[in-house]
Amino acid sequence: MSKKTILITGGAGFIGSHVVRRMVQHYPDYTIVNLDSLTYAGNLENLKDVEKKSNYVFEKGDIVDAKFIDQIFEKYSIDQVIHLAAESHVDRSIHNPRLAVETNIMGTINLLTSARNSWKDNFEGKRFYHVSTDEVYGSLGAEGFFVEETPYDPRSPYSASKAGSDHLVRAFFHTFNLPIVISNCSNNYGSHQFPEKLIPLFINNIKNEKPLPVYGDGKYTRDWLWVEDHASAIDTIFHKGKNGETYNIGGNNEWKNIDLIHLLCDQMDEALDRSTHFSRGLITYVKDRPGHDRRYAIDASKLKNELNWEPSVTFQEGLKNTIDWYLKNEDWLNNVTSGSYQSYYKKQYS
Ligand code: NAD
Ligand code: DAU
Repeated sequence: MSKKTILITGGAGFIGSHVVRRMVQHYPDYTIVNLDSLTYAGNLENLKDVEKKSNYVFEKGDIVDAKFIDQIFEKYSIDQVIHLAAESHVDRSIHNPRLAVETNIMGTINLLTSARNSWKDNFEGKRFYHVSTDEVYGSLGAEGFFVEETPYDPRSPYSASKAGSDHLVRAFFHTFNLPIVISNCSNNYGSHQFPEKLIPLFINNIKNEKPLPVYGDGKYTRDWLWVEDHASAIDTIFHKGKNGETYNIGGNNEWKNIDLIHLLCDQMDEALDRSTHFSRGLITYVKDRPGHDRRYAIDASKLKNELNWEPSVTFQEGLKNTIDWYLKNEDWLNNVTSGSYQSYYKKQYS
């Protein structure tokens, strides 16, 4: 295994912290520089178990600050990048589209520019890996799957800003030969996810016997992947993916929201020793999300056939593991839901 220095952006967030942990633990010869501005979604608690490792460094800073990013490339002689930092929540991007654009588009162009300048067009051993989402492809009807060639058709400020960032990453490949790779993944779930996203929000509300706000008719469909399987896919693509290529990542695990919510309620009732269907009684239909995409479903066969990657757990196992984690980590949940979380919650749900 060669020695190299890898910049991971957004490593204090949900998926980023799983990627950082995996890279620090699996690759002792790599130096992992975790760069994160610690927004409401970033939390160094997520990395307590690896923060003292000798191959791990944390830098607090903003990817929108171009000068700072240049300095990071110079300070650490960065060889490769795994870029996850983003404003990642659709509902927040509806409240504040400009922030999504600034972080997701300006942040990405800054990283691409610093990488290119620092590598001085000598790309031997270099790689820029951009982590993106299936939402760039838009919304599916009842049939079909997103493949890598599906035309982009983003509908929310979040997905439009991620689409913009994907286009820039590809433009740097075609125009400057920057060695890039992109992955577009479906919905993740697992430990350390901020409780604004469906699964951790509902776990927290079920625990506290609060209403479960289901948008619209509840029949919107998502393809769910356990976050540690996303981290293993990122590891695979980072090491084995081909320059200039895109890989779709998914769990082959489609659920209508309401069916998933019923399963979650039932697993929570069992974990909390509550009577059968107690938590289903908390379900409350609320106003729909504007521009709500009806269905996402990923065809991940390119990743399976070319790079031999598959998810490792069933949804039932992954969900049980996730519920156990949230119930055991009450302090984490209480810490992240104090302060600004309360005002966000009021704005979104009152
Ligand atoms: P998250 O919101 O949990 O974490 C984002 C992290 O980025 C946080 O630690 C935050 O502090 C940091 N960050 C935000 N703005 C920053 C800035 N300007 N400078 C530096 N750091 C900044 O997000 P997540 O769910 O872990 O998603 C990570 C990436 O994966 C995103 O690019 C997202 O688009 C993509 N993705 C997410 C999912 C999903 O289901 N969550 C699925 C597919 C792709
Ligand atoms: O598909 C990948 C994307 O998945 C990622 O790129 C995003 O970063 C991530 O946030 C996620 O986006 P979604 O919008 O699909 O996730 P969210 O958890 O916000 O919502 C999942 C579904 O649940 C969606 O149909 C909206 C619905 N929902 C969500 C919330 C928060 C509700 O019905 N009620 C809610 O309160």
